Amino acid sequence: MQKAVIQVLPEKIADVDERIYGSFLEHVGRAIYTGIYEPGHPEADDDGFRNDVASLVRDLRVPLVRYPGGNFVSGYEWEDGVGPREQRPTRLDLAWFTRETNQVGLGEFSQWLDKVGAEMMMAVNLGSRGISDARNLVEYCNFPSGTFYSDLRASHGRKEPYGFKLWCLGNEMDGEWQIGHKTAQEYGRIACEAAKVMKWVDPSIELVVCGSSNAGMPSFRTWEETVLRYTYDHVDYLSLHSYYGNPNGDTPTFLAQGIEMDRFIKDVGRVCDRVKAEKGAKKDIYLSFDEWNVWYHSFGEESKSKPWDTVRPLLEDVYNFEDALVVGSLLMTLLNNSDRVRVACLAQLVNAIAPIMTRPGSKAWKQTIYYPYYYTSRYGRGEALRLRLEGPSYVCAVSDETPCLDGACTYLSQDSTLSLFLLNRSPSEDLDVSIDLGPFRAQKLLERVALEGYPYQRSNTNAHPDAVVPSHPQDTCLENGKLSTRLNHSSWNLIRVQIIP
Ligand code: AHR
Repeated sequence: MQKAVIQVLPEKIADVDERIYGSFLEHVGRAIYTGIYEPGHPEADDDGFRNDVASLVRDLRVPLVRYPGGNFVSGYEWEDGVGPREQRPTRLDLAWFTRETNQVGLGEFSQWLDKVGAEMMMAVNLGSRGISDARNLVEYCNFPSGTFYSDLRASHGRKEPYGFKLWCLGNEMDGEWQIGHKTAQEYGRIACEAAKVMKWVDPSIELVVCGSSNAGMPSFRTWEETVLRYTYDHVDYLSLHSYYGNPNGDTPTFLAQGIEMDRFIKDVGRVCDRVKAEKGAKKDIYLSFDEWNVWYHSFGEESKSKPWDTVRPLLEDVYNFEDALVVGSLLMTLLNNSDRVRVACLAQLVNAIAPIMTRPGSKAWKQTIYYPYYYTSRYGRGEALRLRLEGPSYVCAVSDETPCLDGACTYLSQDSTLSLFLLNRSPSEDLDVSIDLGPFRAQKLLERVALEGYPYQRSNTNAHPDAVVPSHPQDTCLENGKLSTRLNHSSWNLIRVQIIP
């Protein structure tokens, strides 16, 4: 067995912004209808929301959910989804070729967020609409009373403002697939003007401006630079989106995608700093990684459902064991960049590229990726600390020296606990690891969790919901303050230690 060493350095990266454990629910496929909302389901509450789904979401401690899109938002008329339900129109959603009934709109969604304990991350439509609708929506949601839209909200039964704090200025506006796709100049101008009026209506809101749809876009970096030149003074965050996949069955490369995500974040961070310097600005622009996940299993499956159905099963990736390892390591990358990334959204939350799956009428289940998200969201809080990792490496398309070991560490001072999130991404080498806790003195080993030992392709399904579940190996040892463990090849791990305060 090869040896590896981990050292917790006395270096705080940042206080983790809990919003990095955000998620995303779009009006796409069965995310909303028969996902979170299914009146008539045995688990439905009086408002039609599924309790089984809500309870799985609550367990994940998701602090915020981006809504209503995604591509969907670029054709959305938010007024369709408010007011008496029986008067709401059914519209063609041109993003996903679906018939949108508008039975769930921002009021219902906000009600659901209250049930699961999450905040809204609201998006305005800068595709088919513009600055006027953006300011009206802020007025409807956040203005106290005595104006057309705030009184309209009250007439819909909601007297108190919703007070949504975080807003996206459109979605993936650089993409030709987007309704109302724009050049960087066109988007920069409209985003700047929308941002201004939205903040005039409610100066307490924070705004996310669209970065590139992914790092592979031909205009990547120039897009960010141009858009920030127009909007720098009016926005708070720049968005990043990235989906990872293993379509060619190259697992060693797939398991190294955390490194790609890290490069992407650093790259975009450099663009922000360049524009800051150019403008002589004081404030920093932080990053909102508001769409990230594994997504490729369901590519090409749109043809299995009929265009213009009201509920189309779309983007229903069935995740396997290796996907869970990748998601675990992407979360480590987010933690290791928590000085720059303040918001992140696992895309998405239910049914469409999601950790939670449902079938109409039957019980919800957890996909494999649910587990690393669950543990990292629960314990990856407090201060993120820098780790030094030393060990073997392997060759793959990401790097000729891809470290087998990946990791992140957080310290929660309230209860003096240290959490180590570790990935052994080597496809073949088990590691014998000694862990030096640096400035911390360990008192007790609290918990050891692992996702390990499964064939890469094994998945959880409706019929076999527990085919891949975490285990609690007895291979970690704390002796005379020294911690050591075995990390099996292809494994995601969590080690929690009680620290002497
Ligand atoms: O999350 C699915 C889709 O991926 C979103 O609607 C879009 O923003 C991205 O391309």
